[in-house]
Amino acid sequence: MKALLINGSPREGSNTGVLLQHASDVLEREGIECEIQELRQNTIHGCIGCAACRKSRNAECPAHKDDFGPILAKMIAADIIITGSPVYFGSATPELMALLDRAGYVSRGNGNLFSRKVGGPLAVARRAGHNFTYAQQLYWFTINDMIVPGSTYWNIGFGSAAGSVSEDEEGIRTIERFAANCAWVAHKVAG
Ligand SMILES: Cc1cc2nc3c(=O)[nH]c(=O)nc-3n(C[C@H](O)[C@H](O)[C@H](O)COP(=O)(O)O)c2cc1C
Repeated sequence: MKALLINGSPREGSNTGVLLQHASDVLEREGIECEIQELRQNTIHGCIGCAACRKSRNAECPAHKDDFGPILAKMIAADIIITGSPVYFGSATPELMALLDRAGYVSRGNGNLFSRKVGGPLAVARRAGHNFTYAQQLYWFTINDMIVPGSTYWNIGFGSAAGSVSEDEEGIRTIERFAANCAWVAHKVAG
């Protein structure tokens, strides 16, 4: 079983990455092979709505020559997908949303490639905007026929300087329980 954890932060040593690492550690302990995909090392342009992906029927996006294809392939191969974003002016980052827009459009044009995969989002901010950024990502999971487990709080963390989310004990506990629930559900789904 595989999990792909997608980091939408453009910052090195990001708080989002810290939380995703906690989730990854829990999943690994549950016997799940994990990869954290950093988007900051990649170029992913926004969807241009040409619908070429729907005509190609190849689960690819023919519109752009960028780093989208290999990441989409990893998403398709994963049993669990977790996304994470810092809050930027109340929203998820454009890096993450560009990936989710295109992956979602290709998926929906090719018979729902993410059906019944397990996963969900998390968000990190200095002060405010977590809930919207969490929900913004959540919409992507639930329109793509995916299964999103809960936790003991919403999947959010507080931090400003890079790495400072490590001091948010409740945030980390929430993310770890969410990851444990992802593993629990994914094992049940796999039968
Ligand atoms: C462009 C930009 C916009 C931001 N907007 C918000 C915001 O709306 N609310 C907030 O609480 N923090 C905001 N922040 C702070 C970040 O969310 C915070 O530093 C977070 O920990 C960054 O996570 P990262 O290390 O994973 O990138 C913003 C930071 C940047 C660079």
